[in-house]
Amino acid sequence: MATSTTTLSIEQARTAVEAAILAPSIHNSQPWRWRLHGDTLDLRADLGRAVPVVDPHRRQMVMSCGAALFNAWLALRAAGLEVQVDEFPDGTDLAIGRLAALRVVGQCPPAQGDTALVDAISRRHTDRRPFDRTELPDEVVRGLRRAAESEGCWLVSVVRPGTRVELSVLLAHADWIETHDPDYRAELLAWSRTDPNALDGVPRSAVVGGAEPRQSEFPLRDFDIIGEAGQRLRDPEVERPGVLVLGTDSDSPDEWLHAGRALGRLLLVATAAGLAASPLGQAIDVDATRNLLREAAGGSGEAQMILRVGYPDPAAPALPQTPRRPAHDVLEVAHDA
Ligand SMILES: Cc1cc2nc3c(=O)[nH]c(=O)nc-3n(C[C@H](O)[C@H](O)[C@H](O)COP(=O)(O)O)c2cc1C
Repeated sequence: MATSTTTLSIEQARTAVEAAILAPSIHNSQPWRWRLHGDTLDLRADLGRAVPVVDPHRRQMVMSCGAALFNAWLALRAAGLEVQVDEFPDGTDLAIGRLAALRVVGQCPPAQGDTALVDAISRRHTDRRPFDRTELPDEVVRGLRRAAESEGCWLVSVVRPGTRVELSVLLAHADWIETHDPDYRAELLAWSRTDPNALDGVPRSAVVGGAEPRQSEFPLRDFDIIGEAGQRLRDPEVERPGVLVLGTDSDSPDEWLHAGRALGRLLLVATAAGLAASPLGQAIDVDATRNLLREAAGGSGEAQMILRVGYPDPAAPALPQTPRRPAHDVLEVAHDA
């Protein structure tokens, strides 16, 4: 029942969920469900949106939800609300429990920087296009590392030439394993979209394709499996992007959620700094290469994400928004709200 102490309005909750649904998710599967009751927004995983071949342990599903959780939390904070976050309040079985409960407990002015981050939510996109050749300044990398650390994760910038070669070999190896797996190809095809009215999945406009192979140290996930040639944006040249490995001290659902929150935060910090990024996920999807990656990256614990980061080509057109299901599809409002 609504009481006079209720401080989270339906409108504020809807704004938070609208921010949450703009988060990145594996294959744009948008695997989240939200419920508003009283002063609390609950987040659950939508298991019907799992991608079991690429993500058999649902690690990337939880990370996607973690990024959405970060956006929702940020939107509430930017609205001047004080928010208490309880993670996995019912335990870590995704089929039964909530991933998080965001409870508004009062008012509190937003922290410095939160407004710039919230503004970046609608400008953040996964950018798979070639980057400008400008290197990432150390100060920018430090800012991204602080973003990861503030969510309880670590971030390593892969700069040693030998380590970059090792990483590119691991990616190529994992890419080969995945693209030779018919189940992987079928799942990727099921989440690839040509219909302009689709509300989820990866649209053709987000995929860089072309008749010639893309020239980079690092292979992107190849979404171009339906044989249509995508549009080339400019002549290929070997790019040397910044490469960051995001990790956690251990490998458990609550750490995956932290990694998702860290991913959400650091992608917004990157966007606010004029950077573009795209995941290089294959080496983490495949257990064998993920284990080797941890050693190559030198982080202590588990690698959760590899990101390619750089400055977008100033001549490249703005990226279109990838589709999203509307907030009313993913938000349930309880009678007491
Ligand atoms: C956990 C996770 C893993 C991802 N892995 C990859 C990947 O390996 N390759 C890739 O190109 N994009 C990857 N993405 C990006 C998604 O495809 C992207 O977020 C989604 O299509 C929505 O597009 P947007 O980020 O532009 O909003 C990943 C995203 C998440 C959250």
